[in-house]
Amino acid sequence: MRKKLRLVLGLVALALLVACAPNATQDSLKPQGPYADKIHELFIPVVWIAAIVFVIVEGGIVLILLKYRHRKGQERMPAQTHGNTRLEIGWTILPSLVLAVLAVFTVQGIWDLASDPPANAMNVTVTGQQFWWKFEYTDADMQTAAGEPLTTANDLVIPTGRTVYLSVESHSNGSGFEVIHSFWVPELAGKQDAVPGRTNHILLEADHPGTYTGQCAELCGLSHANMRFQVIALAPADYDAWVDGQLGDAVTPGPGTQAEAGMNLFLNPLPNGNGSCVACHSIQGTSAAGVGGPDLTHFASRDCFAGCLFDTSDPEAIAEWLRDPAAVKPGAVMPNYHLSDGEIEQIVAYLQSLE
Ligand code: CUA
Repeated sequence: MRKKLRLVLGLVALALLVACAPNATQDSLKPQGPYADKIHELFIPVVWIAAIVFVIVEGGIVLILLKYRHRKGQERMPAQTHGNTRLEIGWTILPSLVLAVLAVFTVQGIWDLASDPPANAMNVTVTGQQFWWKFEYTDADMQTAAGEPLTTANDLVIPTGRTVYLSVESHSNGSGFEVIHSFWVPELAGKQDAVPGRTNHILLEADHPGTYTGQCAELCGLSHANMRFQVIALAPADYDAWVDGQLGDAVTPGPGTQAEAGMNLFLNPLPNGNGSCVACHSIQGTSAAGVGGPDLTHFASRDCFAGCLFDTSDPEAIAEWLRDPAAVKPGAVMPNYHLSDGEIEQIVAYLQSLE
């Protein structure tokens, strides 16, 4: 009896542990836009049909088990049945019909989700890197003064009520970091693989302002689990203001400040001879034009960095990252430049000034 009780309590505890978190943001059961709605609208009837089939089949099995179970004093063999043509034809045709109907709606849904974007759609190229996401806004009205597409990392900012047509790619420049990633924001769209050398597409749209978290859904290396991102949907007016801010050059820190010292470290070869930040990073309006790592022009205007592992508003987190990137994010490509504490403090001040 004790054992049974323990088993039941264990199962209850397990059920509670695996139960859905009430505030989970990556919930495909709570679609927040028309493309996610479409998937959800197909999913719900399929679940109901599956549930009904489950109850009929399992119920039938239990019923027959009980009805024809062995009873005390019953010695003779029950009547043996060898096939029932009518029943067998029935339970072959019926499921085929159910699957055929589901197939019609499924194929229709696939075509809808793979259709051409509406004329007013916004174009963004998303590139999976090891291990973060780069977003480039390729429309003509989203170019900087230098004619480059507005580029961000980790945060994809979009206006509400407008379709975003994503071209999903994977970093491929012969560096040996070419792997398959998968772009997934459950509340806004399905998944799309990012395959080196290919361009895949996916449509997404958000109905309401909000932050929708996503993550890489294809095992891609050591920090696959740390390859998160967020889609931040803003009301159209707020979005326009954001674009204006992003298209501007980076602010130059005032003379004599920590941030200015950080800028000088950032833009020049490091005094310890270990390399330079600009080998990989760009900052619009400065000489920094590296392309391997995230564009940092408006670093401080973003919520998060390094695959959304850390907040840009947290100087301690940035310092930890600069001290030894791979120690806080396994497999990070950014090297450890063995910066001194003073240098780290200055670069943190510079990065946090880049509104
Ligand atoms: Cu990228 Cu998993």
